[in-house]
This record gives sequence, C-alpha cells and structure tokens, in this order.
Amino acid sequence: MPALKQRLEKAISVGHLPTIQGMLTDLEQFANDPHATVEQISEHISKDPSVSVRLLRIANSAYYARAEPVVDVQESVLFLGVAQIRIVAMTTRCVEAMCPEDQSGFVWTDFWRHCIATAHFCRMLGRSFTYPGFNPELNWMAGLLHDVGKLVIAMLAPDSFRKVITKATEEGISFQDAEHKYLDTDHGALGGWYLERQSLPPVVFEAVRCHHKWDMAVEKKELPAMANVADFLARQKGFGNSGNMELVMGPFTETPAWQFLVSNLALRGDPASLQLQLDEESTKIAELIENLLPNQKRVVVKRSAPADPSEPAKGSPPPPSSNPSSNLSVETTA
Ligand SMILES: [Fe+2]
Ligand SMILES: [Fe+2]
Repeated sequence: MPALKQRLEKAISVGHLPTIQGMLTDLEQFANDPHATVEQISEHISKDPSVSVRLLRIANSAYYARAEPVVDVQESVLFLGVAQIRIVAMTTRCVEAMCPEDQSGFVWTDFWRHCIATAHFCRMLGRSFTYPGFNPELNWMAGLLHDVGKLVIAMLAPDSFRKVITKATEEGISFQDAEHKYLDTDHGALGGWYLERQSLPPVVFEAVRCHHKWDMAVEKKELPAMANVADFLARQKGFGNSGNMELVMGPFTETPAWQFLVSNLALRGDPASLQLQLDEESTKIAELIENLLPNQKRVVVKRSAPADPSEPAKGSPPPPSSNPSSNLSVETTA
C-alpha cells in the first residue's frame, strides 16, 4: 500500500494520471451562469468532437424515443439540457482519458460498460428516494468512478493488476479479497484516495472509497450504499465486466445496503415498481451505454418513407393524429 500510494502521489504530481476535476472545469461556467445561452454552450461543446458526437447519439437513442431526429449540437443542447451535457462530457472524457493497455485479455471497454451502468443505476436509485441534498450529477459521478481504483492499479502497476485478476480467478475469491491478499490494499481505498487528491466533492470520494463497505463511511452512508446497490445491479444485469467474478445472488432488495436505504430514506413508490422500471429500462440502458463509448457503431435514427401516401413528405411535421415513432428506424454504421 505505501509503495502504491507513493507511486500514485508521484503520478498525479507529474501529470501521468488524468485529473478528473480538470475534465469538467470548462463546463463549470455554464452550470453556474444562468444567463448562458444555448448558442454559447453549443459553440463551446462543438469544439469537442468526441462530446458532440455522443450528444447526438444519445439525443437520438431509443432511451429518449424522440419523434423527430435531433440533427445538430444546438438542438441536442436544447433537448438534453446542461445537466445531462455535463454528464455526457464527464463520461466521455473519463472513458477516453483512462483506458490502460490491455492486461491479460482484460477488456477495458467492458470495464467502462460496467461503470456507466453503475452510474445510471446510482442516479436512478437517488431519484427513487426523497432526501435532502440529492444531486443527480454527484450520484452519476460516484457510480461512474466507483471502480477507478482498478484503473489506477492497472496504469501504475500493471503487473500487480494482472496478478490480482489471475489469482482471483485461480483461487475463486473476490477481486477485493485478492487485492488484500496480494497488494495489501483495495481499489476502493486507492480510488478514494486518488479522487480526494483532486478536490472532488467529499461525498463522491467517500462513496468510491466505501462502495464495498458502505457501513464504514465516516459521515453520510447514503451515497456509498447507493453505489453498492448500483454495482450489484450492474453486475446482476450483466452490463460489462469489472473483473469482479463474485456471484451476484438474490434480489437487490435483500442486500444490506438496500435495507439500510429503505430504513433511513423515504422511498418514492415501492420496491416492486422500481424493479419493474429497472427491468423495462435495461434494453434502453444498453443502447445508452454503447452510445457513450468510443469507437462504437454509430446510431442513426432514420425516418422511412411514409407508408400512407396521405402522410406528409420527409421532413414535414407529422399530423397530430399520427404515431410519430412508427416510421422511425435506428440503424448502426461502423
Ligand atoms: Fe468495486
Ligand atoms: Fe463495480
């Protein structure tokens, strides 16, 4: 642990590891400026092609089920809003900045699939409860970065990462148990420490630090517990692979973290309707994840020729009585 921490400290100080906070600073002005216009935000976003293309993909994804395709960045800014744009920008920049060399066949794109799914579920869980101080962006950030400690290990000590993966598989133990056995630390501790050095909100680095032991959180346990349940859901529903082969058994409502949440916060609705929502949204979430990842197939929403000759031509607004999505199709291109 001390050796890894020293290497981590040095890597941050000489810029060998990306600074998460730096990825968002250019967008802070828009979050804090109520007078910023859509044109100004769009012009700024357009300078970042990676973010722009993802905004368009997401605005046109089945998740939002729009009747009319969004055709440019300005329209996507208007449709998605600044909060969602910040989340897309944060996710895009993290995924692109932190993708280590392949380690023994470990697929880092699958790692990010797991993290994005966890972010989505973490935000969804936050919205399922009524409690003071809820911030959807912080919930997303905590979910997205909950396993960032694994990236830190892989980037600073690839041999150690490879050893943990191999030993966890050979010995049939969890990733965390293998970390403690062979590294004398775990990715929660390292990830939390890495984010703390970057002045991220304490609620985020505490959630990252304690996502496997949420009950050890020093102050608020809500976000660590939500990150824990979100990680459980992402693994149970098979989104990506974080290298944690521990079996995910039973419904999420039986996890200690969920039990803590329902005992301490007011749940909107009931667990059964949340479960239904989780099941219904799984396909849409899968598409959302693919649209956030780099070098993926591009999702294109196309409007086919009207089946009914009396329908208006392509590009014209549909009549009020028509089903607007019936003649839309989503195509993917390389
Ligand atoms: Fe983890
Ligand atoms: Fe995880």
